[in-house]
Amino acid sequence: MSRPGVFTVALSLMLLFWGLARVAIATHWTAPPEAKRLTNPVRATEASVKKGRELYMWHCAKCHGVRGLGDGPSVGSLRVQAGLNLTLLGRETDGELFWKISYGRGEMPPFELILKPEDRWHIVNFLRTLHSR
Ligand code: HEC
Repeated sequence: MSRPGVFTVALSLMLLFWGLARVAIATHWTAPPEAKRLTNPVRATEASVKKGRELYMWHCAKCHGVRGLGDGPSVGSLRVQAGLNLTLLGRETDGELFWKISYGRGEMPPFELILKPEDRWHIVNFLRTLHSR
């Protein structure tokens, strides 16, 4: 292999790692501190969880799958994995989940304009039952 060849390979590798590092940073999605402090005004009653489940099946399951595994029928068209990491969800406050559902990121649509706040909280209550299963 000629010297310029080695140089090209080294440069390509550097660019590749730089690209991977950027993707790794991009996949970590953190809600802002003020989201953490939002309190859930909707009690997680059986009725709320039921309502949340209905809304989830209608609006979210096509990407996240009925059990949050990221295996819904629309995932084929997504570039980003849509599995809900239940361990991660368990570490987040209701406010953080509410914030992510409201504003979205990339291929995750913002539901602020689609669902009223109360409905977004019902969904948060339902997501908690996914976690405990
Ligand atoms: C069009 C596909 C799509 C739909 C519909 C969708 N999501 Fe997402 N969702 C995603 C993708 C992709 C990500 C990962 C986004 C990222 O990390 O950039 C995501 C991320 C999330 C996260 C953050 C996960 C974490 O651990 O940080 C939550 C919570 C979430 N979605 C909940 C919902 C809820 C609730 C609904 C329905 C109201 C919904 N999503 C609808 C594609 C979707």
